[in-house]
Amino acid sequence: MYEIKENFALKKYNTFGIDVKTRFFVVCKSEKEITDFITIQQNTTLPLMILGGGSNVLFADDFKGYILKPDIKGVDIVKETESEVTVRAGAGEDWDEFVAYCVEHGWGGVENLSLIPGNLGTCPIQNIGAYGVEVKDVITEVETIEIDTQKKYVFTNYQCKFGYRDSIFKRKLKGKHLISHVTFRLNKQPEFKLEYGNLKEALGSFEDITLKNIRKAVIAIREAKLPDPDEIGNAGSFFKNPVVTQEKLKKLQQKYSDIPFYPLTDNKVKIPAGWLIEKSGWKGKRKGNVGVHHKQALVLVNYGDATGEEILHLAKNIQQTIIIQFDIELEMEVNVV
Ligand code: EPU
Repeated sequence: MYEIKENFALKKYNTFGIDVKTRFFVVCKSEKEITDFITIQQNTTLPLMILGGGSNVLFADDFKGYILKPDIKGVDIVKETESEVTVRAGAGEDWDEFVAYCVEHGWGGVENLSLIPGNLGTCPIQNIGAYGVEVKDVITEVETIEIDTQKKYVFTNYQCKFGYRDSIFKRKLKGKHLISHVTFRLNKQPEFKLEYGNLKEALGSFEDITLKNIRKAVIAIREAKLPDPDEIGNAGSFFKNPVVTQEKLKKLQQKYSDIPFYPLTDNKVKIPAGWLIEKSGWKGKRKGNVGVHHKQALVLVNYGDATGEEILHLAKNIQQTIIIQFDIELEMEVNVV
């Protein structure tokens, strides 16, 4: 049975380490506990928020309602062939422990997504991605509970409407469904994806290319660049990499011949926001309790006792600079509550 805690401190439940409170906090360990709890919560007037690993959220203030943390565990094989394995996992599993488990079993597909903080259940919401892989590449189904009706749903990959750091759960269904399980199709004869950035280079120091070594290399790159949230509060990339037209890129190239970009379809390109922020002089800057990480400009950090408002203020200043200097609007990647 779940326990409802009152005036609960959230500092340990968000990787930014913002010291806010929620009026009520509850951890549910099964679908039944979740539906039982929601039935009761719906008789109140207070709002409900679902919180995963807290690695992509910025609390600007105390939360004056109920926070529900789904903690459904379990990783089960639902289908296995010579070449593939289909695995269903509970939303409360830790994402990186799941990746380690897959790598350990020789199942390929998620190794490039090593060391991403957060819970497994939130991976489809923003379609987590790194080093040339997005989780949508391996998700077959997402199981949810609709909050208003407590009805269970199964979304196919197509129905999730995945995009770059995007899905139906961030748009039309935002706040309407709770993810209980995710099913993945993994490859027992994996094809390695090594084209992104310096991944191949980082693998150079290993004798051969295996899932385990790719995981080690990704971890090494991330540890070298990204701050550990246990040491310095942060939520990974704070902004999305902006997408602009080829014409816009050409204009920018006249002034900045070294601007990096990744070509997309539809005459569009993606520009690393980290480059824009670094070029504008913000990288490594600190203002009181908050700052821009000195090794990766896309990451905003809490040096100690920052409030959500301070982080937001910094983010807005950066957005303004980027508009003035490059005429590009940076969209926040984290959810502001
Ligand atoms: N760059 C700079 N300065 C910086 C940071 C980046 O100039 O301070 C430029 C460099 O040219 C570099 C390029 O940006 O080559 C790309 O940098 P990086 O490989 O670090 O990737 P990113 O575009 O900054 C994205 C994801 C990360 C993911 C990495 C690796 C987004 C918003 N971020 O960052 O995801 O780990 O690629 O695939 O797409 C996250 O979402 O929290 C996250 C960390």
